[in-house]
Amino acid sequence: MPTVQVRLPAQPKNYEIKIGRGVLSKLGREARAVLGPDARRIALISNSTVFGLYGKQALQSLKAADFKSTHWLMPEGEQHKSLRSWQQALEFLSKKELERGDAVVSLGGGVVGDVAGFAAASYLRGIAFIQAPTTLLAQIDASVGGKTGVNLSAGKNLAGAFHQPHLVLIDTQTLRTLPRREITAGWCEAVKQGAVGGRKLFNQTRRLLSKIGADFSLWLDQEKSQGEVCATIAAHCSFKAAIVAGDERENIKRTDARSRRILNFGHTTAHALERLTDYRRFRHGEAVGYGMLVAAELSKNIGMLAPGELESLRDAVRLCGPLPPAGDLATDSIIQAMSYDKKSVGGVTKWILLERIGRPVIIDGKEIDKPTLRTSLRAGLSGSVKVS
Ligand code: NAD
Ligand code: GLY
Repeated sequence: MPTVQVRLPAQPKNYEIKIGRGVLSKLGREARAVLGPDARRIALISNSTVFGLYGKQALQSLKAADFKSTHWLMPEGEQHKSLRSWQQALEFLSKKELERGDAVVSLGGGVVGDVAGFAAASYLRGIAFIQAPTTLLAQIDASVGGKTGVNLSAGKNLAGAFHQPHLVLIDTQTLRTLPRREITAGWCEAVKQGAVGGRKLFNQTRRLLSKIGADFSLWLDQEKSQGEVCATIAAHCSFKAAIVAGDERENIKRTDARSRRILNFGHTTAHALERLTDYRRFRHGEAVGYGMLVAAELSKNIGMLAPGELESLRDAVRLCGPLPPAGDLATDSIIQAMSYDKKSVGGVTKWILLERIGRPVIIDGKEIDKPTLRTSLRAGLSGSVKVS
C-alpha cells in the first residue's frame, strides 16, 4: 500500500502514513506492529455517524489482533471540539483504566482527531495515538503532523498540544459515504496545500478535481480512479510531512516559504468567518476556500501576485464545489474577529500571502492598510465562486 514516511528530528517520533482502499480492515494488525506485543487496550474515539458506518469493522480488526477495545462516541460538530469533550474523553480513558502502554485510536474527521489526539497527549502525560481519518480534509491534512487541540470561546484551536501519532491509516474507501459539503471542504484544503506547496501539487490537485465532476463516490468506485485518489492523497501527505519535518512546532520566528506557518494560508480569514458565525455556517474547509481567495486578492492588491495567478486559484476553488454565502457578513466584524487569531504575534495579525502559486510569503498585518484589507475581503467573499 502507498506509504509516506514522516521523519522528525527526534527519531522515536518517526511514523508512517499508510494509504489504500479497504485498509481499515488491517487496523488491528497495523496497530499491533507499531504498538508492540505488550499493548493491551485500545480506546477508540469516534462519533455516532462514523462509528455507525465503520466502527464494527475497526473493532473487529482490533479484536483479531488481540486488543481489548472500548469506545467513546463524542457529540458531532465543530462546536463540540471543546474543553468539555476533552474532559469527557479523559474521564472515559481513566474509567476504562488505560495504562501508559495502551493507545487511543481516532476514527473520524478532523474534529474527532483533534479531540482524541489532545486526550492522548494529556492522559497520563501522553499515551500512544493512532489516526484513522475518514474525511478528505483529515486524510490530506488534519491527521498528519501532530497538532491536536480544542477551541476556546475566544477562538479556534486555542488549547492543545503537539502529539505525533504512531501511525496514520487512511482508508480511501471511507470517502464514499462522505457528504458532498465535506468533500468540497476537503478539496479546498487540498487546493490550499497546492497553492503554498508548489505548482506540481497544485496542478495534480486541479487536474483530479476537473476529472471528478459532481459524484465523488461514483468516481471512487472505479479501480483506476481509486489509484489516482490514493496518489493525490499521498502527494499531499508527503508535502505536509516534509513541512512538519522541517518545523514540527511551527516556530513563530520563521518567515520563510518552508515554515509550518505557510500551512495557515487562508486561515486568517477562515477562522474569523467560523468564529463570527458560531462555527455553524461554514465547514472549516469551506471557510478556508474563502480565506484563500481573500489572501490572494490581498496579494494582488498590494502588487505581489499577478492577476492570472489569482484567476488560477479562483478556478481551483470553483472546482471544489459550491460554498455557503459569505457576502452578507460585515467587513468590520470580520476584521474584528481576526484579532483573536492564534497566528497573531505580538498582538499583530500575520498574513500568509502569495507571490505566485507555490511561493507563499508571511507578512505582518501592520503592512496592510485597512482600505486594502476591506477591498480584498469584499472581493474574496463575494460571488467569484459558486455559492450554494
Ligand atoms: P469533521 O471532523 O467535523 O467531519 C465532518 C463531518 O463528516 C462530521 O459530521 C462527521 O461525522 C462526518 N464524517 C466523517 N467521516 C465520514 C464518512 N467517511 N462518511 C460520512 N460522514 C463522515 O470535519 P473535518 O473537515 O474532517 O475536520 C475539521 C476540523 O479539523 C476542524 O476543527 C479543523 O480545525 C481541524 N483541522 C486540524 C488540523 C490539524 O493539523 N490538527 C488541520 C486541519 C484542520
Ligand atoms: N493545518 C496546519 C498545520 O498542521 O500546521
